[in-house]
Amino acid sequence: MSIVFHEKTKTFHLQNERISYVMTVLPGGQLGQLYFGKRIHDREDFGYLLEPCFRTHSCYENEENLISLEHVKLEYPVYGSGDFRRGAVQILHENGSRLSKFVYDSHEIFPGKPALEGLPATYTESDSEAETLAVNLTDPVSGIRVRLLYTLFADKGAIARSVRFSNEGEQSVQIERAMSLCLDLPDADYEWIQFSGAWGRERYPVKKKLSIGTTSVESLRGTSSHHQNPFVILKRPSADEDQGEVIGFSLVYSGNFLASAQVDTYQVTRILMGINPEWFSWKLEPGQSFQTPEAVMFWSEEGLNGMSQTCHDLYRKRLARGVWRDRVRPILINNWEATYFDLSEEKLLNIARKAKECGVEYFVMDDGWFGDRRSDRAGLGDWYPAKEIFPDGLGSLAQKVEDLGMKFGLWIEPEMVNPDSNLYRAHPDWILHIPDRARSLSRHQCVLDYSRPEVVDCIYGMLKELLSGAKISYIKWDMNRSLTECYNSSLPADRQGEVFHRHILGVYSLYERLIRDFPHILFESCAAGGARFDAGLLYYAPQAWTSDNTDAMERLKIQYGTSYGYPLVSMGSHVSAVPNHQMKRVISITTRANVAYFGTFGYELDLNTLSQDEIDQVCAYTQFMKDHRELIQFGTFYRLASPFEGNESGWMVVSKDRREAIVGYYRMLAEVNSPFTRLRLRGLDEETEYEIEGEGSFYGDELMHSGLVTSDAATGKFGFCVTEEGDFFSKVWLLRAVE
Ligand code: DGJ
Repeated sequence: MSIVFHEKTKTFHLQNERISYVMTVLPGGQLGQLYFGKRIHDREDFGYLLEPCFRTHSCYENEENLISLEHVKLEYPVYGSGDFRRGAVQILHENGSRLSKFVYDSHEIFPGKPALEGLPATYTESDSEAETLAVNLTDPVSGIRVRLLYTLFADKGAIARSVRFSNEGEQSVQIERAMSLCLDLPDADYEWIQFSGAWGRERYPVKKKLSIGTTSVESLRGTSSHHQNPFVILKRPSADEDQGEVIGFSLVYSGNFLASAQVDTYQVTRILMGINPEWFSWKLEPGQSFQTPEAVMFWSEEGLNGMSQTCHDLYRKRLARGVWRDRVRPILINNWEATYFDLSEEKLLNIARKAKECGVEYFVMDDGWFGDRRSDRAGLGDWYPAKEIFPDGLGSLAQKVEDLGMKFGLWIEPEMVNPDSNLYRAHPDWILHIPDRARSLSRHQCVLDYSRPEVVDCIYGMLKELLSGAKISYIKWDMNRSLTECYNSSLPADRQGEVFHRHILGVYSLYERLIRDFPHILFESCAAGGARFDAGLLYYAPQAWTSDNTDAMERLKIQYGTSYGYPLVSMGSHVSAVPNHQMKRVISITTRANVAYFGTFGYELDLNTLSQDEIDQVCAYTQFMKDHRELIQFGTFYRLASPFEGNESGWMVVSKDRREAIVGYYRMLAEVNSPFTRLRLRGLDEETEYEIEGEGSFYGDELMHSGLVTSDAATGKFGFCVTEEGDFFSKVWLLRAVE
């Protein structure tokens, strides 16, 4: 791994075993992009990649050198002077102009990776893990400096980027657009994949061929959202799961975002990713600075699986933090779908007792335990236990759970308040609202204004007391509505564009304080299911509730889609009751478990309602997960067949040494007289023979090339063949290398 600067040509080459990223200082001083892709040889002069062209109607700052800003590839472009595409940055100056020109000033190359103050980001644990290039550009007229950071990770097709602005001029400015990443690619022969959905159907992959014009996804909900995800992919049309060039773009941020691909009429593709410029501005006084969130680019020539594996590896080891980062995740039971708001200590302990009998490790009490929260109409904001349910306090319940030999976990929703709560009655002005305008409600609740430090301090105080007063080992941090009327009554008019971003910084700061004070607690983020499943929150909470839809077939799709940009160990996945509460479907407990294994695994029902036969199965499934969670959560994951593309779906995880693997196979609907089907496995060692219980032993090459037979045995009845397994069939196979 090395980052080289060629003084003579002012060319930067970031290069490791897999990738190269080449930039150069253009004759006008701007930073130009020359190449990003598979590693190439270094050379002093990559000038042949630059397009000096005369084209009718182009504008030139210098007609001698023929560098037209709309025809070169740029690293951090500004609209307004020759480049007519969307810029990465826009600054409003005191004289009303929005033009800046950022020219190369200096650079530094150093080992390791600096932290981003107040923001989540990937990190290194030793300097040898990465090298960072900081390029300092300056706008001589305004004195605004931008510092572009590029961190190249050793051995990985991954580059992390972010930008820091500082005002070294004499006048204040408004930053109106400050993208974290801009990448100009020399052609447009790509398919774009975005992850779209809504509540209960998050992160479905949507594929489009890029063509002239702009393709984009964004969130304006104040959260990364159920609807779009701050993770997008560009892939070559010929690339598939296993081969071909793929680039993933991931924003390490949980608020409003924009990701776009603009293809111009010369077939150049400009990727932009960062804070959504809509309703965003940031006032920068002389001497002040502003840091953008981080964006990470993942490059692979090994298809979508290769790109995801690079991303999983980095996010699992160098984005997630804390004692839970490298630990297998506890198997927990959550009472939400078992009781909803109808709580009593006895009921909860009954659920916990039965779960303990089945080997479950944590009992989590969900919504409804605090203040006047007997329904979703009241109580949010009053973070103390309801006296009528817990006369002896939470400490006593937590202790009873501990006495059962389990750990105790708790649900909170600290960013919210019900108007019917003591907190709201004491501080009606603490919510996001615009004076003299209506305050929108959603689920009967308002959003606390976390851009105000005193609000965050108050909630921190309450939570600190709560978490110190009982043995709490796990927190589910929920967030159940979008942000509206985003305005902070204590900020001046010219700082209102900062509120969305300041709000999310407030959320991050509360997380940071709590994980610092309670490092042993496992945090799981949640936002009405998966409305904030993003890389930003993985920095604070190493797992997230993937969706409120717990139906196994729906979860298969949601977890499959989520796996493109996030590791299995980050996906909260539970077995829930049938008929399923969201879909009314009845699916066997085996298939429910077979889907939930590919995540953190847990239960979301009252196990007392199951038959003895089902309880025996639950015990076996819990034990199976305990035996194999290390492999599932930390092995190499492969998508095999997509539930979005056919009736059959599959995925698998392979151990690092390729001696063990687990395959999940799922068939949505039964088919009569169906074809003879096989699933081609991935990631095995061709020469190793693997034992598969109930199936026999096969060499890796057989399993990967001729495939594992997945057809069920049909029985003949009256001369007709009838399928044995019915709808929603699934199977999990364990593969072990024959010694
Ligand atoms: C939404 C979450 O996604 C659910 O799991 C549950 O915790 C409810 N909120 C509780 O209100």
